[in-house]
Formats: sequence, C-alpha cells, structure tokens
Amino acid sequence: PSGRLVDTLNRPLRDLRISVTDRCNFRCNYCMPKEVFDKEHAYLPHSALLTFEEITRLARAFLAHGVRKIRLTGGEPLLRKDIEDLVAQLAALRTVDGQPPELTLTTNGSLLARKAHALKEAGLNRVTVSLDGLDDAVFRRMNDVDFPVADVLAGINAAREAGLSGLKVNMVVKRGTNEHEILPMARHFRGTGITLRFIEYMDVGATNGWRMDEVLPSREVIALLRAELPLVPLDPSAPGETAERWGYADTAGRHDPLLGEVGVISSVTQAFCGACNRARLSTEGRMYLCLFAGQGYDLRALLRGGASDAGLNDAIAAIWQGRADRYSELRASLPADASRDSAAPRRVEMSYIGG
Ligand code: GTP
Ligand code: 5AD
Ligand code: SF4
Ligand code: SF4
Repeated sequence: PSGRLVDTLNRPLRDLRISVTDRCNFRCNYCMPKEVFDKEHAYLPHSALLTFEEITRLARAFLAHGVRKIRLTGGEPLLRKDIEDLVAQLAALRTVDGQPPELTLTTNGSLLARKAHALKEAGLNRVTVSLDGLDDAVFRRMNDVDFPVADVLAGINAAREAGLSGLKVNMVVKRGTNEHEILPMARHFRGTGITLRFIEYMDVGATNGWRMDEVLPSREVIALLRAELPLVPLDPSAPGETAERWGYADTAGRHDPLLGEVGVISSVTQAFCGACNRARLSTEGRMYLCLFAGQGYDLRALLRGGASDAGLNDAIAAIWQGRADRYSELRASLPADASRDSAAPRRVEMSYIGG
C-alpha cells in the first residue's frame, strides 16, 4: 500500500473512527432514546467485540493506506474496560510518513475526571467532550439519566490538567430544546482555549424520530452569536474537516487568538461530503463508508478467518476504491421528509457506528 488510495470520487482515506462499545451510560434522545435502548435492548455480546489486538491490527492496515487520525468513539468509549491499554497500542503505530497517528477520543465526559490522566499517559493526544448545555436542568433532561452538568465540567477540567490539548466541546443543537443554551455556552468557553462546536441535529440511525423542524440551521446559530460576540470566518485547518471555523474578533474586527474560536457542523444544511475522508469501524468490526450507510463490510470475518496482512490490506483498498457514498449531499436534494421514507434502507445507529 502506498497511502495514495482514493475512492470513486477521488477522496483519500485519512480518518478512521473506531467504535469501541455500543453501550452508553447516557440516553440522549437524539442518539439512544430510552424507549428503544431499554432493559430489553440487545447489546453486542463480548465475543462479538473486536479485541484490542484485532483493533490494532486493523488500524495498522488503515494507516498503511494513508490514515493519519484515529478517533475512538462509542457509545461511550470510556466504558470499555482498560481503554487506555488500547490507546497505548495505537500510539505505538506509525503513519506512512513514519509519524505517530493523531489519537483522539469523543466522550460524554462522565468518566473523564477518573480517566484523563491514564489516557494522557497512554499517548492520547486530544479529547472532544459532548455537552449540550450549561443549565443543569436542561442538561439532565437531554442526557435523560439525570446526570449533573458539574461532573462533565469537572471532567473537562481534569482533561486540561492532565495536559490533553486541543480540547473541543460538541453541542448538538435542537430547536425548542437547547437553543437557549447557545449563548451561555459560547460565553462560558470563549477565551478558555476550548473550541466549542455547534452541531446540527442529524437524521442518523432509525430511532431518534428526527424532524427537520427541530434542526436549527448553523447560519442561525452564527447570527445569534454575532449579535453579541463579534466573529470572523477562519480558513479550514485541514481538508475534509467537519466543522466550519469562526474566530472571536477583537475590537478592531480581527481574530483574537486569545479569545479562541467556535465551529459549526452543518451536515443537514451544508453537506461536506465532497472531501469526506472518513472510514468507520463498528464495534464488531464492520467497515462503514458513511455515517448513513445501510451496511458495512465484515472485516472481523477476515481477521478471524485467518487473513494475512496483505489480504487485509487488499480488502480495505478494494472497499475504499468502490466508495461512492455522499449521503448528506443527496439528502439536500430530496424533498423535506424523504429521508424518513420507510422504504429507504435501514440505517445503522450512531451508538454502533460511532458518530
Ligand atoms: P475533529 O477532529 O475535532 O475535527 O473531530 P470531528 O468533528 O471529525 O469528530 P467528532 O466526533 O467531534 O464529531 C462531531 C460531529 O460531526 C458529530 O455529530 C459527528 O456525528 C459528526 N460527524 C463526524 N464525521 C462526520 C461525517 O463524516 N459526516 C457527517 N454527516 N457527520 C459527521
Ligand atoms: N445529530 C448530531 N450529532 C449527534 N451526536 C450524536 N447523535 C447525533 C445526532 N443525531 C453527536 C454526539 C457526539 C458526536 C460523536 O455525535 O453528541 O458529540
Ligand atoms: Fe451516549 Fe454520546 Fe449517544 Fe449521548 S450522544 S447517548 S452520550 S453515545
Ligand atoms: Fe462523509 Fe457520509 Fe458524512 Fe457525507 S454523510 S460527510 S459521505 S460520512
């Protein structure tokens, strides 16, 4: 492998998102609604999960094809036992340029205060914490397990103290649920070095009852912010990035790096499939080519069937070379409710594929 692999739309493979568990201790309504993810819900049995050795072997193959960034997700990745051991194994891998991969993790923050130090020691570079509001009542309602906001804020502080840099906070915005938290969140994180990103509520999976009228378009978020906190557009920091960046401006209207920046992730109103360089590995080792894909490719079967390294590399290359996925762009050209069409192929859940 040369690291020059491209798909049918000429998109390289740069990012690997690995879901390490399909379980979570939160029940955010937009992701794992309580009614569906209840006591009866069948989670994957332990034997179905990729082991750390299997994940590391697959990650090595992906790196050989040009991957530079690896993100651990879930469900809630910190629920996976000894996750820092996986981080250490991944940190020992190298990209085609001989560099360590950029290792990052997206977490709900609930266990971060306990885990931040061990994760940093193991070689994790960055973390992103999901937080949908600062108001305790709003936050408890959104996580739907009555989890207090103070504990997530403590987790964020612990991550900072442990030396995990490039901290980001993800806020999923739902019209009518937490739009009033946009400005308080911005005021709170402005000038802290933490980048807050507002995410349009997406129609991911098949259980969250998504409706277009609950999406608050990012342009409205930016307008709301700008009315109080001056912003200037910033250039993308990497091709194919999810977020559009906006810098807080000083009184002269220039970006003030000390005030930091915010981002908007607008998969619904401004699709970013054109440069999408992300592959996903599900908890049980299926490779997905899109967050909205109906099916994945069973790499675990290859691993457990005794495939050679060359066989694995070739399989991954062939799958990526056949890729034509661009769901968000296609959705934009569909009539308003077509993405909810029951005839459409059943999509995988976010907690399984890892956001
Ligand atoms: P950075 O490395 O910090 O840029 O992270 P990221 O934005 O790639 O990942 P993160 O886990 O923070 O995800 C932020 C939001 O973007 C989540 O809501 C994800 O579900 C969403 N997201 C990430 N990748 C994609 C993608 O390829 N397509 C779509 N539609 N959404 C994505
Ligand atoms: N729409 C947008 N973002 C979502 N996330 C989970 N479900 C959705 C959804 N339906 C976010 C989480 C986390 C990231 C990985 O994905 O809040 O920050
Ligand atoms: Fe758990 Fe994250 Fe899904 Fe919320 S969005 S239920 S914290 S995996
Ligand atoms: Fe990539 Fe699919 Fe997201 Fe488009 S919708 S950016 S192709 S993951």
